[in-house]
Amino acid sequence: MLPRDNTSDLKGKRALIVGAGGAIGQSVSSALARDGAEVTLLGRDLRKLDRIREEIDASGGVARSVCADLTQRAQVERAVAETIAQSGQIDILVNAAGVQVRKPAFDLTEDEWDAVLGVNLKSVFHICQVVGRSMAKQGGGSIINISSITAVIGLPHIAAYCASKGGVNQLTKALAVEWAPLGIRVNSVAPGRIRTPMTEAIFQDEVIRESFLRLIPMARPGTPDDLGGAVVFLASSASEYITGQTIYIDGGWLASGGNPQR
Ligand SMILES: NC(=O)c1ccc[n+]([C@@H]2O[C@H](COP(=O)([O-])OP(=O)(O)OC[C@H]3O[C@@H](n4cnc5c(N)ncnc54)[C@H](OP(=O)(O)O)[C@@H]3O)[C@@H](O)[C@H]2O)c1
Repeated sequence: MLPRDNTSDLKGKRALIVGAGGAIGQSVSSALARDGAEVTLLGRDLRKLDRIREEIDASGGVARSVCADLTQRAQVERAVAETIAQSGQIDILVNAAGVQVRKPAFDLTEDEWDAVLGVNLKSVFHICQVVGRSMAKQGGGSIINISSITAVIGLPHIAAYCASKGGVNQLTKALAVEWAPLGIRVNSVAPGRIRTPMTEAIFQDEVIRESFLRLIPMARPGTPDDLGGAVVFLASSASEYITGQTIYIDGGWLASGGNPQR
């Protein structure tokens, strides 16, 4: 039997990328569009989204943009309804928004805790629930949550963030199990350290940068483009029997058990 050709597997599929204005969201949106998916970019800053949309259009893809603040459930519902009205349906959902507050746990305020958990976990549940309902009606879909290696290891000064990403891994498993009979697959992609606006401050700090670089067997941090392959794979039928899983994209960090490599 000839090997299955998955190169144009996403042709005709419609993807919603949440947090598409972020570094990882933008890269993942381009990767899905390159593979043939029509992408809807969801974020707070419509001007930023429109620039990304124009880039995708210019390189032969099909993109739309829609505005919503993820902390506002009504805005999420409206944005999803708008996306379905324009695209017909949502086959692929990628949750790539996120925030981080970096400070000692003793100093973390209740508002900061709520803000991090609100975007990184509660809003992921809301959007999965709203999009999941429409995927159930259409007979299936693929959801990909952007988690983090901090779902399974603790790092100092980002307690709320670590807790939120641990929650994302568990939410991924719980929804995968509950929705498998509906044809909805739910998986996560969990990066290690990627240089983006979220992590720019720790990349600027030479001491911190050198200490985490020593933990990465591949001896380099990740780039947003390192995630596209796994997201496209999880969105495509090449992964049709995979659900409830997290793929770690970390240059070998977790495999090393945290032992300095150099
Ligand atoms: N960078 C890393 O090393 C790393 C490692 C592991 C996991 N991750 C995860 O990867 C994902 C993307 O992060 P990134 O590094 O690409 O960071 P980023 O460039 O700062 O992007 C974060 C995105 O989230 C959006 N966002 C935040 N709050 C929102 C809200 N209330 N409503 C709508 N959108 C909101 C931001 O929108 P605005 O553009 O409007 O601010 C931004 O587009 C996050 O889930 C992050 O936790 C990143």
